[in-house]
Amino acid sequence: MLQTGLIATIATLVSSAVIAETEVKIGYALAPDSHYGVAAQKWQEVVEAQTDGKFTFRHFPSSGLGGEREVVEGLQLGTVEATIVSTGTLSNFVPATGVTDIPFLFRSLDHARNVLDGPIGKGILSEFDSAGLVAIAWGEQGFRHITNNRNAVEKPEDLAGLKLRTMENPVHLAAFNAAGAAPTPMAWPEVIGALQQGTIDGQENPLSVIVSVKLDEVQKYLTLSGHVYSPAMLLVSKPFWEGLSDEDKTAFENGATEAVAAMRQYVDNVEKSGAETLKERGMEVNELSTDQKAAFRASIESAYEGYYETYGKDLIEKISATE
Ligand code: PAF
Repeated sequence: MLQTGLIATIATLVSSAVIAETEVKIGYALAPDSHYGVAAQKWQEVVEAQTDGKFTFRHFPSSGLGGEREVVEGLQLGTVEATIVSTGTLSNFVPATGVTDIPFLFRSLDHARNVLDGPIGKGILSEFDSAGLVAIAWGEQGFRHITNNRNAVEKPEDLAGLKLRTMENPVHLAAFNAAGAAPTPMAWPEVIGALQQGTIDGQENPLSVIVSVKLDEVQKYLTLSGHVYSPAMLLVSKPFWEGLSDEDKTAFENGATEAVAAMRQYVDNVEKSGAETLKERGMEVNELSTDQKAAFRASIESAYEGYYETYGKDLIEKISATE
């Protein structure tokens, strides 16, 4: 009897040790109090609650595992289990993703969310399988805006020769080249140092990033260009995913759905309050009229010819026509 009890106790200890070993390393580029951190925390909470603590999340915020490209490569290798990333580098893994990076394509957050949550967005997610990745859901960062230290930017000519850091993203590069800037693709972990040293004049990111990273400490001018919507994605390593039971997979999917809701709520808030916050912190903020925005859109017309060729005019028009 005593022996049976002992065996049961040992079995429980062994199984909890095995369970405790199911660690989910989750890497992301921004701080725990950013839209990424909030989403990662929600993802963890739901998975933990729905799997009785079978998974332990270990967070690597603020690029703790390197740049976004390196983290995605880690997922492919199976050394990292999960990430929340921008689409900055994703078209290098799944070329179809690039269509969502086209400037002036999405009119509003609602428009973007409808496209990404609908058949076009789902179709792109499904293509990640062939890149050895599991794309669970679309998240977002908001609309990207230009910051710099050289001059106020109110018209395309103000961008002439501006050393502007872009993500390692061919769609964005084409647009800024067409607009006359001097775009410099760079991994995020190098950006703050490059701004401080003056190797680059500026960068572009959504208010969610500019506010949470406190870019106002290294940048003087902010132009509310809203030139491109910035999607994000919740990705899981395929080797990790294939080892999960159906119930575990459902918990990860449910967690991702709630994480996206939390992320979108964060973005909704910062899109309303972010510009004021940055003004209070001392940035010179330039809002653009509809005509001024139209001038920026016109300045990248030649890049659009390339987008039509790469992604198909039909698809781009279908996205524009989505409500
Ligand atoms: O600019 C970027 O590279 C991205 O927007 C960032 C800040 C890494 C968040 O994904």
